[in-house]
Amino acid sequence: MKPPPQQLKVVRELDRHRCAHRALVFAREAGCSKVVAHQFATSVSELAGNVLRHAGTGQVHMEVISEPWPGVEAVVDDTGPGFTDVVTVLEDRYSQGRTLTVDNQPWPYPGLGSGLGAVRRFMDYLSIENRPSGGARVVIRKKAA
Ligand SMILES: Nc1ncnc2c1ncn2[C@@H]1O[C@H](COP(=O)(O)OP(=O)(O)OP(=O)(O)O)[C@@H](O)[C@H]1O
Ligand SMILES: [Mg+2]
Repeated sequence: MKPPPQQLKVVRELDRHRCAHRALVFAREAGCSKVVAHQFATSVSELAGNVLRHAGTGQVHMEVISEPWPGVEAVVDDTGPGFTDVVTVLEDRYSQGRTLTVDNQPWPYPGLGSGLGAVRRFMDYLSIENRPSGGARVVIRKKAA
């Protein structure tokens, strides 16, 4: 039986871990393998972490999809400023307005700029947009396998 849609708040660090755990259980119940379920959960964790770090608060909505293929989807909305450049942020090492290198890795600094790149490689679908009403929306989908 397919799991019902899940709606989770992202307000504090504990919520990130709750989202990751719920995503793992959800994906397994939706028929995903352990590997796929962990990829999905890790991606949800990364996106929830981005909400906390770059936007403040938000929410994660997960549901089972049948189109364009059977799988799982997570829609992550936040109440932050939105993305400044939706193309550049997908590049590895791009973090908070600049591209980092191994020689140029400020410390202390809360990010490697590798989260969204990793999500892109893990998932079968990733979209990033700024909502007209404000804030960002990131959608990921993974084939159930
Ligand atoms: N929800 C968001 N709202 C606005 N900007 C965001 C959001 N998520 C990510 N960004 C922007 O995209 C950049 C790249 O995100 P990415 O997750 O790849 O790296 P990071 O969060 O800086 O570091 P980390 O490697 O720890 O994830 C961020 O530095 C930030 O500038
Ligand atoms: Mg990140």
